[in-house]
Amino acid sequence: MPKLATKRRQKDQKKKMENQKQTGPEAPIKVSTLNCINLSNPDIHHSVSLLKQACLDCGFFYVVNHGISQEFMDEVFVQSKKFFDLPLDEKMKVLRSEKHRGYTPLLDEHLDLENQVHGDYKEGYYIGVNVPENDPESEKPFNGRNVWPASGVLPGWRETMEKFHHEALEVVKEVARIIALALDLEVDFFDKPDILGKPIAILRLLHYEGKISDPSKGIYGAGAHSDFGFVTLLATDDVMGLQICRDKDAKPQIWEYVTPIKGAFIVNLGDMLERWSNCIFKSTLHRVLGNGQDRYSIAYFVEPNHDCLVECLPTCKSENNPPKFPPIRCSTYLSQRYKDTHADLNAYNK
Ligand code: OGA
Ligand code: NI
Repeated sequence: MPKLATKRRQKDQKKKMENQKQTGPEAPIKVSTLNCINLSNPDIHHSVSLLKQACLDCGFFYVVNHGISQEFMDEVFVQSKKFFDLPLDEKMKVLRSEKHRGYTPLLDEHLDLENQVHGDYKEGYYIGVNVPENDPESEKPFNGRNVWPASGVLPGWRETMEKFHHEALEVVKEVARIIALALDLEVDFFDKPDILGKPIAILRLLHYEGKISDPSKGIYGAGAHSDFGFVTLLATDDVMGLQICRDKDAKPQIWEYVTPIKGAFIVNLGDMLERWSNCIFKSTLHRVLGNGQDRYSIAYFVEPNHDCLVECLPTCKSENNPPKFPPIRCSTYLSQRYKDTHADLNAYNK
């Protein structure tokens, strides 16, 4: 989408929100303006400079012309909604496994222990890279078998999700090439077999039910968090809800809405990339507020191979700026973050 159209939409949305501000009871609402990267632009230097600016600033940006068709995105949303429309007992048949595959019920995830009274008012469905049990690679914590709703219940569902999983990884690899250039690394630094060759890639369908969030009561669609990994792609429907906070230490914190743009992915950097880049690139706090409407989003989290050593990048350290963190294996880092934010599976047996 041309940049001007993007800007115009952001402006329209801003106007809309400001009108709401005058009539609504809630605190002032800010709408964020994010850089938009056109992945089909042959002028890669322009893309690198836009992305770099975004990553130094807040680690959030849009990507457009990413190669996934609008028709297919619509299909993924339709199928996602079909799953969440199933009766709860049907969804509980595919309850999330130890390997983080399958259904995550309402309140299962608790992202912001400090400010939330319950878990998130959202339900989800995790789909990872499928590794069968007889494959020695299945020993690794994030490798495992996907679980699927019975095909008689949702025909074509699995195929749609597998196709999206595959196509979204290509988008992330393209983004990773621009990130590498923005960090003064060679273009294929991340897009190499030992880094993104066998990635931990998790597709998560999300449904925020119509619960109205109330920060003063600790009720959120999704509590404030930064994503754990390398890069996240996010597609949303047109219901506003996602907010970012550029400065987590500001008091009071200032939250800005991120406008959904049809056809664009919202991309954000995760904590692992912040750590990898010695905090040069930012992973930014974000959350979701429910406004009473159902809202659907599709997140795709990508992290490197399990064994990838996340160690300060060569271009991100100097004598005056030594590494801030010791090296850590990707899977060690990620396992801990999942454990800290998800309910104990035993809780569902009670
Ligand atoms: C997430 C997330 C935002 C959204 O799943 O990590 O931030 O809009 N989702 O659903
Ligand atoms: Ni997130």
